[in-house]
Amino acid sequence: MKMTEEQRKAMRITVDYTNMTDKYLGDKGYSAKQLDSYKYTAKVAHEYVTDNRGKDELFMGWTELPYNQKEIVADILETAKAVRKKFEYFVVLGIGGSALGPTMAFNALCHLHYNDLPKSKRKGPKFFVEDNVDPVRMKELLDIIDPAKTCFNVISKSGATSETMAQYLIISDILKAKGLSIKDHMIFTTDASRGNLVKISKELGGVKSYILPDGVGGRFSQLCPVGLLPAAVLGIDIKTLLQGAAYMDKLCRGSHDFRKNPALLCATLQYAAMKDGKNIGVLMPYSDNLRYVSDWYAQLWAESLGKNVTLDKKPCNVGQTPVKALGVTDQHSQVQLYTEGPYDKVVTFLSVTSYKEKTPIPHGCENIPDVSFLGGHTMEELIQAENKATAYALTKAGRLNYTITLPEVNEFTLGQLLFLFELQTAYAGAMFNIDTFNQPGVEAGKKATFALLGKHGYEAQKEELDQADSDPAYVV
Ligand code: PA5
Repeated sequence: MKMTEEQRKAMRITVDYTNMTDKYLGDKGYSAKQLDSYKYTAKVAHEYVTDNRGKDELFMGWTELPYNQKEIVADILETAKAVRKKFEYFVVLGIGGSALGPTMAFNALCHLHYNDLPKSKRKGPKFFVEDNVDPVRMKELLDIIDPAKTCFNVISKSGATSETMAQYLIISDILKAKGLSIKDHMIFTTDASRGNLVKISKELGGVKSYILPDGVGGRFSQLCPVGLLPAAVLGIDIKTLLQGAAYMDKLCRGSHDFRKNPALLCATLQYAAMKDGKNIGVLMPYSDNLRYVSDWYAQLWAESLGKNVTLDKKPCNVGQTPVKALGVTDQHSQVQLYTEGPYDKVVTFLSVTSYKEKTPIPHGCENIPDVSFLGGHTMEELIQAENKATAYALTKAGRLNYTITLPEVNEFTLGQLLFLFELQTAYAGAMFNIDTFNQPGVEAGKKATFALLGKHGYEAQKEELDQADSDPAYVV
């Protein structure tokens, strides 16, 4: 969708950090002077990210995704059109960064009961993201899809992730058994040249494949074919999603003053809080559509910042544990802890100014004031009031919180939000002077799985793992 500058401004997302400051939090909040003490750190982080934009060798290729995919987007739109025409089901096989993005965009921008809608009311095929190897889940997926009418998008940068490749083996076996061609039913999204899916594609005579660019790691890949193809299949306007990302990039690129740069502001607030021992970061969207943004963000934040060594090889143990919460649902489960428990958290609210539905609450129960006051309002007013009330209660209790507001949930605002979080993460990593883009801790688990399942070359580790079996003396 082409947008005017006015329309873009009206859809600009904002960050309100009043409740991080001493204005209402007193000595539990930050004074202007305290925040100013992070000015230099923020400036250096901004310079690091700006200077290294687009560098594949540093895994910073994701910064250019809003700009360098014209031909890929055109190709994706063509493929998506064909997929919509031919298939009734679209199944993503992937995990981690190869799954959370597609899930998040699906939930944010499609009908919340999309798969239950009749075909005429859906823009695309029924949609599933299979990001686990729970055997029950795989079996039960197969109970409800017809492989002959399904397109499987196998997403794996390495093509060596046990979960995804096990799924690939199962599905390709089923397709073969049914006399269906893998080439007709699968699309790969993978590394340009090195991954195993590249080899498999060659062996099969060329499976339609999209490239997960070299300088883009899994958790920064939502805005490349990893996320764009599934989104396009669902009828999501991927051009506007990318425009939203570019808009946020523009807002952040030019200024190393954290008070003028939304992503640098969020990074600085979180960094300051982490330095003060706030090791838990709660992300609490007041929108069911944004629910899975928390899952996506949790991976981005945890995997990027959870590190034990700095870039100059000094030991450290940094990071912040991301917690997913949903407003208002989790007001009735977790907010008690946030308000009265330890002072170890920062709560980030995601608020929405205008929901796509207002849903009026009718008058009724006029003789029961506890109920009748609700009549005449809308559910939009109710959720917004509860959002404001929770922020107020936390602030009253001296708890750090800030709010990111989306004027609406749409492609343009989601693109902005994703890019804000990606930049925030890159800035925060630079503040800690760590490698934001590696994940040795994840790799360690992947390798241990290889060993346990008898992969060649992992024999010594298998032996070590066998010896580390639990001691019956400690099993109750
Ligand atoms: O962010 C990451 O790099 C990881 O979460 C990966 O996306 C995940 O482990 C899947 O890896 P791959 O795409 O190689 O299958």
